[in-house]
Amino acid sequence: MRRMIGTSWKMNLTPSEAADWFAVFVPLAAGLSDVDLFVLPSFPALSVARDRLAGTAVAWGAQDVSPYASGEHTGDVSAAMLADLGCRYVEVGHSERRREHAETTGLISSKIQAVLRAGMDVILCTGEIEPAPVQAAIGQVIADLDACLADVPADQLGRVVVAYEPVWAIGPGRRPADPQRVGRVHRAIAGRLGRGSDSARSRVVYGGSVDAASAPRLLAEPGVDGLFVGRNALDPRAFALIASAQPGR
Ligand code: PGA
Repeated sequence: MRRMIGTSWKMNLTPSEAADWFAVFVPLAAGLSDVDLFVLPSFPALSVARDRLAGTAVAWGAQDVSPYASGEHTGDVSAAMLADLGCRYVEVGHSERRREHAETTGLISSKIQAVLRAGMDVILCTGEIEPAPVQAAIGQVIADLDACLADVPADQLGRVVVAYEPVWAIGPGRRPADPQRVGRVHRAIAGRLGRGSDSARSRVVYGGSVDAASAPRLLAEPGVDGLFVGRNALDPRAFALIASAQPGR
């Protein structure tokens, strides 16, 4: 399976700044042929991604979506709008949305259905909130995934990328989780979602303070199919360096 390395910019980079980011990143990405790359800008910068990434192998998509199809939902963005724009991926269930917008697993499940129905793929974030022994963390993550994915048929699971993101490892001042711990959680997730054929298998990527120094050891861990990068990808050169990381100790 090819490594998958992606970034969500969160609420960073205006459309103009996004254009500058792509101007630097696209030539660097051309040299990265052994990895599946994706970028999730803010809604206003999505059309910049579409224009700047046309003809490249870099996928792109959105950070959120409405569970509703259309209508009286002021300020929301539907899956059909994102699909029409050309999004390949939609991120769902990030801990910042769960925390700041009180998103429940029921809402996340509805969003996943909306994304799949519109023909796009899901990046589903999950992770324990506080540091916990690994077995307890696995229990929390599996329970969350079971709730969020209850309505996804086994043959559709390959369209869901799971991002394991321990909340305590995300953001400024934090450090990535220990690679061995990450590997154990990933293998438990893969075991739980291992229904269906091999082509239907979900990829499991790790997110939480990933940088170029931590990437090789994380990627070397069996079960880690890729990385999901936040603040350390806001510099396109830094993201290209992470994307070029090879598994190693
Ligand atoms: P971070 O964000 O890399 O800035 O910790 C990761 C994430 O939230 O996906």
